[in-house]
Amino acid sequence: MITIALSKGRLWEESIPLLQKVGEDFGDPDNFIPTISPEETRSLIIPAKNPKIQFLVLRASDVPTFVRHGAAQIGIAGSDVLMEQECNDLFQPFDLPIGVCRLSLAMNNERAIMWKNGKIGNLTSLKVATKYPLLTHQWFSAKRKKVEIIKLYGSMEIAPAVGIVEAIIDLVSSGATLRENNLVEVESLMEISAKLIVSRASLKTEHQSLKPILEAFAKAL
Ligand code: PRP
Repeated sequence: MITIALSKGRLWEESIPLLQKVGEDFGDPDNFIPTISPEETRSLIIPAKNPKIQFLVLRASDVPTFVRHGAAQIGIAGSDVLMEQECNDLFQPFDLPIGVCRLSLAMNNERAIMWKNGKIGNLTSLKVATKYPLLTHQWFSAKRKKVEIIKLYGSMEIAPAVGIVEAIIDLVSSGATLRENNLVEVESLMEISAKLIVSRASLKTEHQSLKPILEAFAKAL
């Protein structure tokens, strides 16, 4: 059995066409995709039509952990999560053309002007909410800016409006969430996309079954 760790939400949806291409390589595009969407079931393990393939329905930030501990041989994880969790122990053979977005600093318009004029984070700390405390800390340190980081797990864009922080660092795709919460993207820290991750232990012990799958991914890109 090959188990693939996937995260719910946008990345799940975007993974399907890619997995169909992988399936085509095994003779049937439906072979390799979940038989039901996580929106339609509470089951957290979803089979594929191929009885040798199944999918774990996970939170994005948990995908590396399930792969690292051998619960899944393969996973699809965002480069944001992989960098924040310093997942260098996981084999990351391919960048995938899905989950493309950027990690950006955003604040309200008034503060954005002050930031651009270099008037923020010099004498006093800028309070920033983020899911990515490590990346945030590293970025502000490199800029020699003072920062106080508040870790949140979601709905980041509300935090400046309710006054608990002055800025956020979060993923931006279309920019709609920022706009609708009166925030302006002031700088992008990095471009983000999904990556295929593979457990190094499985790569050794299950080389025979993983090799054709990895080759099919390579062709599908
Ligand atoms: C992500 C991200 C932003 C939003 C950006 O959240 O955290 O909130 O998408 O997308 P946009 O620029 O197209 O508006 P997501 O919807 O994935 O949910 P999450 O908060 O659970 O991560």
